[in-house]
Amino acid sequence: MIKTDLRQIVHALSDMLDLVGVDELYHSKRVAFMSAECSRLVNLSEEERDTVYDASLLHDCGVSSTHTHKYLISELDWSDSEAHCIKGHDLLAEEDLFSNLAPIILSHHTHWDVLHTKDISPENALISNCIYLADRVDALITQNKGCELLLVKDSIRETIKNYRGSFFAPELVDVFLDVSQSEFFWLSMMPHHLTKYIAEMSAMKKPHYLDHNALMHIANMFATIVDAKSHYTVEHSRGVARLAAHIASELGMGREKCVELNVAGLLHDIGKLKIPDEILEKPGPLTPAERAVMKSHSFESYQILKSIGGFDDISKWAAFHHEYISGEGYPFHLHKDQLPEEARIISVADVFQALVQDRPYRSSAEPQKVRAMLEEMGSSDKLDSDLVGFVNNNMETCWNAATA
Ligand SMILES: [Fe+2]
Ligand SMILES: [Fe+2]
Ligand SMILES: [Fe+2]
Repeated sequence: MIKTDLRQIVHALSDMLDLVGVDELYHSKRVAFMSAECSRLVNLSEEERDTVYDASLLHDCGVSSTHTHKYLISELDWSDSEAHCIKGHDLLAEEDLFSNLAPIILSHHTHWDVLHTKDISPENALISNCIYLADRVDALITQNKGCELLLVKDSIRETIKNYRGSFFAPELVDVFLDVSQSEFFWLSMMPHHLTKYIAEMSAMKKPHYLDHNALMHIANMFATIVDAKSHYTVEHSRGVARLAAHIASELGMGREKCVELNVAGLLHDIGKLKIPDEILEKPGPLTPAERAVMKSHSFESYQILKSIGGFDDISKWAAFHHEYISGEGYPFHLHKDQLPEEARIISVADVFQALVQDRPYRSSAEPQKVRAMLEEMGSSDKLDSDLVGFVNNNMETCWNAATA
């Protein structure tokens, strides 16, 4: 059982989704700030206002491709916008913890004059449309990138006003025009102010105990988001997770440890969401410049995971997977005595799975080659040689776990 906080999980999911934006790291946070400000003035309960904030942070959970994201933030209306709403809805509807957000996400690009005729509760319709409005204001902000926000605020307000009653609920447009008059509203969206705002909202607010089942559910939800961006990455992560849990269980670690290792394996590469699609899916070896970009991913995983209460160990096991026993790995250059056994297990599982998985530019290595490469990495103090010995002595079961 892990004591965590649902708000922190929402923030971590949102940090992960924002990575997809590559240059637009604050999109969902700006949307959350704006819709939270607007929702203060419409007739919603405190609980519903919390829902506005959480749903805003996750509103783009159906988008994991950097390519799709560019459309979403640069166009006011977009013909294929419904696809990511449906995807986001389906993802959240499966999760007990977040299923209440699903109908809201489904409609967050539906025009108001159509939305109020649909099968959605009046509260959810208003919340959904509030997110739509904030989201489109952010599209306009992005279109004016490089301009002083205070100089363009009036033209943005004018544009939104033109859609009163068509795209957006009249009541919401009136509230937006009211709150967006002040400089405070626009200046609060500068990254350094926004970061503080999010930190304040992150203070333990919704303590929650996750049992093993719920923990696996949450980790799978993170993995599914990665899957939408890169199928290779998620197939890899699922294999690493199974193999790490298999090794741990064979080494006599308890069930709790095995589940946590499974979660760490599922999450170890979530920082890859920040890597542009063309590098991640490149059908050939990476150039030095591309490799440098790729190298940031395990630190990104760490930054996201360590902010979740109760994830102290899991974040380390996951994020240390490119550290070497010799201290020459990255990003922290930790030595063997600083690397918990669980982290060393993830490292071995990571290399093993990558070798046995078919990749865009090559098929899986033969068992003999896998054995030789692991041995080389063990004897050169990259991987833990005892663990290398274990997987090499149990090649078949490890292979099955990594590729099942
Ligand atoms: Fe969006
Ligand atoms: Fe990695
Ligand atoms: Fe990996």
